[in-house]
Amino acid sequence: MKHIPAQKKTEFRSRLLQWNRQNCRQLPWKGEKDPYKIWLSEIILQQTRVQQGTPYYERFIRRYPSIFALAEADDQEVFRLWQGLGYYNRCRNMLAAARKVAGEYKGVFPDNYAEIAALPGIGAYTASAIASFAYDLPHAVVDGNVQRVLARWFGISLEVNGTEGKKFFAGLAGQTLDSARPAAYNQAIMDFGATVCTPKQPACDNCLLRPGCVANARGLTGCLPVKIPRAKPEERHFHYIVLCHGNDIYLRKRGAGDIWQNLHEFLLYEARSAEDGGWQQLVPPRQAQHAIWSPVYIQQLTHQRIHARFLMVRLQKPFRGLEKDQFFTVPADRLDDYAFPRIIVRYLTDSRLLK
Ligand code: ADE
Repeated sequence: MKHIPAQKKTEFRSRLLQWNRQNCRQLPWKGEKDPYKIWLSEIILQQTRVQQGTPYYERFIRRYPSIFALAEADDQEVFRLWQGLGYYNRCRNMLAAARKVAGEYKGVFPDNYAEIAALPGIGAYTASAIASFAYDLPHAVVDGNVQRVLARWFGISLEVNGTEGKKFFAGLAGQTLDSARPAAYNQAIMDFGATVCTPKQPACDNCLLRPGCVANARGLTGCLPVKIPRAKPEERHFHYIVLCHGNDIYLRKRGAGDIWQNLHEFLLYEARSAEDGGWQQLVPPRQAQHAIWSPVYIQQLTHQRIHARFLMVRLQKPFRGLEKDQFFTVPADRLDDYAFPRIIVRYLTDSRLLK
């Protein structure tokens, strides 16, 4: 494994902290010491960028000012507030963690790394963020941003997502951490990675860390960090039949077993390809003739890409027999009360069925 002299790590740390003193991003959770608020901001920021995440953070804090308020919340209401962030498992874990802290810890967030990391949905990154921001504990955050900054500045070409690379970068992050100021250091490297040392077109020209940056000196900025490419995602084709009768729309809540658990959907035909006409067997033939397909909506998930098309079908009479598949009807103007996967929200918003 590549050896890096201690003095090089000290130089990195002091340049980064110097950059931080001059470039303070103002964010609503900056300087926050309440672990509940820190935790909430970090969970939201795993899902989205700061700009999109901030309004979610503010809405959550307003609606659930304490961990007890969140622990007591109705699941569906929390899903609705989460809507648009995707990966509802994170939201479910967030609720489970809130309930564990409210119950087992009497509402006081644990104050050591091991217990924080044992809460549902909290991985090494979030545990380090909470431990350092709330309790000034010396744990370095490591995510893709941090790995990129380190890979470039120290000129490391180990694959960041390989076994050896992950270990190496976690070790290096720990060694560059300023253990006297872990909160400031962690916030600095996050902000620097997000605003200066960005994946594409990093702002090297005016970068305070340019002196000493190995990637910059060797023209390797565009080649670092090195990543093992992901396997190709599975392509899935969902044909959703939006059955309407008068002002009512047929919905069903998805059962256990996947990332959309407990979210609502329409009658679904999973097709083998975009052209597969199997959906016709689900729809009364006369209605199908006049129905029009929506454009294709695409949602990229970690291991699969969903292509969804929606067919609005106006029924002359109620669709009998759907109750056995857990379908129920909802007036079109009450769709706002239900949580949906993001791809369905996009369709409903485009069709003006959701605000
Ligand atoms: N991304 C994840 N956590 C963050 C934080 N605390 N500040 C800015 N960006 C972040």
